[in-house]
Amino acid sequence: FCSVLFLLLLSLLAFIAKGRWKCQGPGPCGSKTLPSPRPLPLLGHLLELRRKDLPVRFMELSRRYGPVYRLRFGTQDVVVLNTTELIREALIKKWSDFAGRPQSYTADLISFGGKDLSLGNYTAMWKIQRRLAHSSLQRSLRTNLEALISQEAQQLCQDFLSYGSSPVDVSKDFSLHTCRIISSMTFGVLFDKKDPEFQVIHKCIGDVVQLWSSPNITVLDSFPFLRKLPNASLDALMQAVARRDAFVKHQLEIHKETFQPSEIRDISDSMIHFLQERKQQEQTPAAAGGEEFDEDYIHMAIVDLFIGGTETTASTLTWSVAYLMHHPQVQERIYSEMLEVLGPERLPEYSDRVHLPLLWATISEMLRLRPVAPLAVPHATTRDTSLSGYFIPKGTVVIPNLYAANHDETKWKNPTQFRPERFMEAEDPKQAHRDVLSFGAGARVCLGESLARMEIFFFLAHLLRHFRFLPLVPGQLPDLCGIFGINLRSKPFQVRFVPWTEPGKDEGQE
Ligand code: HEM
Repeated sequence: FCSVLFLLLLSLLAFIAKGRWKCQGPGPCGSKTLPSPRPLPLLGHLLELRRKDLPVRFMELSRRYGPVYRLRFGTQDVVVLNTTELIREALIKKWSDFAGRPQSYTADLISFGGKDLSLGNYTAMWKIQRRLAHSSLQRSLRTNLEALISQEAQQLCQDFLSYGSSPVDVSKDFSLHTCRIISSMTFGVLFDKKDPEFQVIHKCIGDVVQLWSSPNITVLDSFPFLRKLPNASLDALMQAVARRDAFVKHQLEIHKETFQPSEIRDISDSMIHFLQERKQQEQTPAAAGGEEFDEDYIHMAIVDLFIGGTETTASTLTWSVAYLMHHPQVQERIYSEMLEVLGPERLPEYSDRVHLPLLWATISEMLRLRPVAPLAVPHATTRDTSLSGYFIPKGTVVIPNLYAANHDETKWKNPTQFRPERFMEAEDPKQAHRDVLSFGAGARVCLGESLARMEIFFFLAHLLRHFRFLPLVPGQLPDLCGIFGINLRSKPFQVRFVPWTEPGKDEGQE
């Protein structure tokens, strides 16, 4: 009887949901109804989620149903956007309509009840949090960040030199270095790569992302009754969250004890300063709906800078090494470009990027071909709205398929090919670089784009200045298909970093 009732309930919800897609009242809500593949009874389009390469599957569906369509996962309506124009219309032109995030039980569980920056909904508190994170990060970028990143890149080159011709799995090294940089920016601590405390925080940040997006955890959002049952993945997630929070709290306590308003040392200081000033001004209840902007918000903003600032950039760097191994002639041309511009001695500076068009184009080409967050982070509509004349009700989950936009054949010739020259040959090269949508757009655009681009530039410039990237065995090149998940990662591979001065130029290449 219960299952019959459950099925009836789901059918009723599906019927009610269908009605939601017709514009009910006055307002600019668009006259057309969004196309949708025929749903399976009760399941809707849930089976689509079985596909690991979801961004590619969404692209395939767009060939049949058009660049924007609607899917239904259980009781959740989802709209997928597959072109640059549509993504820009939603996230830039109608930015406040599309600035929300879907709320979930598991996101609340790991963020003091929804006080997260990247997963938090578009509320007054979130706006304060985002502005604060943005200004603190910008402040940090203005102080001697360039020197810090350049030193890290040189340190990595030294490490690779010390490995001799032994093969390296670069992803771990990149990840440790990007984590060191964000840690130095947020807490003023440049950890030793081998420091056990650093190893623990580095690992648990990765674990939180991995576990939180695993099926054993995401299922809890759709089926509340499972929350009462034992769940080993959930236990592991909460342990990693506890370790993460203990580390961040400890660092914030140290900062509060030694804080001097006249000497802002890092991002934590900027945030503590803001909090103290706000508390002084605000003896009365907080302006935004009576809710208080408390320390949890800065705690979670710091967590997001750590998460955003570690694996994403490291992944793009790893992809760059993999692609460059397939294209040794591009390595040689970048090396020659650097020799010509910098001479044999001078170290690269960030301002050199305008004189190193091939290196800069290679970075954009890498971001285009392998966007590390191919489906961005899901958005949600904050009110009834429309897109390209189609009505979209409030509370709809919206997925910007950045992967599809970066592979749009009408915008990019032979989009699956690695061809950095496309940016240099473009009629308007600056616009071509901007057309790469890998950092999202609008109100929720990635906060770390400038930092990420600077890191990728310095690491690639220093590495290519010193080394050729060669496979272990001639012809044994990395797989370029990758692993699709919440991030688009490359499969593990090994590389030898061989100094340009050493013989064996043709060894192991295509
Ligand atoms: C959000 C990409 C590096 C911090 C995002 C989003 C994307 C993205 C696609 C979601 C945008 C949306 O929702 O529409 C990337 C890529 C990176 C990178 C490709 C490197 C290659 C970084 C770095 C940081 C960072 C270095 C921090 C230092 C964030 C934060 C958000 C975010 C805090 C959430 C913004 C919000 O919800 O308002 N990133 N990111 N990211 N990123 Fe990045």
